[in-house]
Amino acid sequence: MNPVLKQMVYILSGVLFLFSFSGMLVYGYKTFYIAAEQPETQDYAYHFVLIAEEKDNEYWRLVEKGAKEQAEENDVYLEYVAPQKADNDEMLVLLDRMISAKVDGIMIQGVNGQRFVDLVHKGIERGIPIITVDTDVKSSERKAYVGTDNYYAGQLMGQTLIKHTSEEQHVGIVTGRFDAISQQERIEGLKYALESVPRIHIADIKESNITAVGASQAAYDLIKQNPQITALAGTSALDGPGIVEGLNEIAPNRNVFITAFDILPRTLELIKQDHIDATIAQYPEEIGHKALNVMLKLQSNDLVENEIFTETRVIQKKDLQTDHSGGIQ
Ligand code: BGC
Repeated sequence: MNPVLKQMVYILSGVLFLFSFSGMLVYGYKTFYIAAEQPETQDYAYHFVLIAEEKDNEYWRLVEKGAKEQAEENDVYLEYVAPQKADNDEMLVLLDRMISAKVDGIMIQGVNGQRFVDLVHKGIERGIPIITVDTDVKSSERKAYVGTDNYYAGQLMGQTLIKHTSEEQHVGIVTGRFDAISQQERIEGLKYALESVPRIHIADIKESNITAVGASQAAYDLIKQNPQITALAGTSALDGPGIVEGLNEIAPNRNVFITAFDILPRTLELIKQDHIDATIAQYPEEIGHKALNVMLKLQSNDLVENEIFTETRVIQKKDLQTDHSGGIQ
């Protein structure tokens, strides 16, 4: 080959290589890097961290809001971190990282498995108070739990189904993640309540991956594979709206009794429009608020109340029309 041409080919390949390499770096950075906010922590009395299940999940943003309000009033820097998409391993990496960063306190959703228990032990040994929020892991050394009694919440869901349906029922369950303890407990509670009623049967359970799109797909598949389904129950915050969408696609005219979880605005709207029959309310802002208070107490007192259950109740259309709903409109 002509030497000039050869040189040109080399240069061109070099440029191409550099171009793809930098593209890979940018892509890799965007995909895997979880931005760590850089606080001026020395300006605050304490630096606490809230580790959520998924960063931009509306429910977790409310937990953050409640905690942040309380943090601002108490000279606390609150850092909010979470995987972009729910992922237990990533949460554990974050927990380990925050223990190494020697923050003053960690509030985290309880994670399934021994590794979580071991990490909590590591943090507590190093003098960092750790509490669970939203989901508990009783077998860990966490100092306290703040959140819904998830088993009870599942039972409430079951009782709602029993009370407001008649005749034979086949229930399809859409759950956030099989690998999340709160979801397992809610399903256990739900099953326990339904067990005593022979006319109600559980047809099948599918995961939504805690997204509305996932819940829509799950509801669609449930009905497709179990055409006898007469009721659908969603056990995490975005499942209700997703279920309504999925049902609309596969069987828009079928009368299905739908029970949802949480009181996010879209769920309440769907209750008002008669698309969702009932929802199990939990109060994420209150969870955040109370968790921050517990963490503050733990800065000077090693012993605090071990289990702080926040309110859980059933909300139906009738509760949204009057103002006896504790502020829910
Ligand atoms: C649960 C959270 C979950 C969220 C997902 C809530 O009902 O309490 O654990 O992360 O739903 O949207």
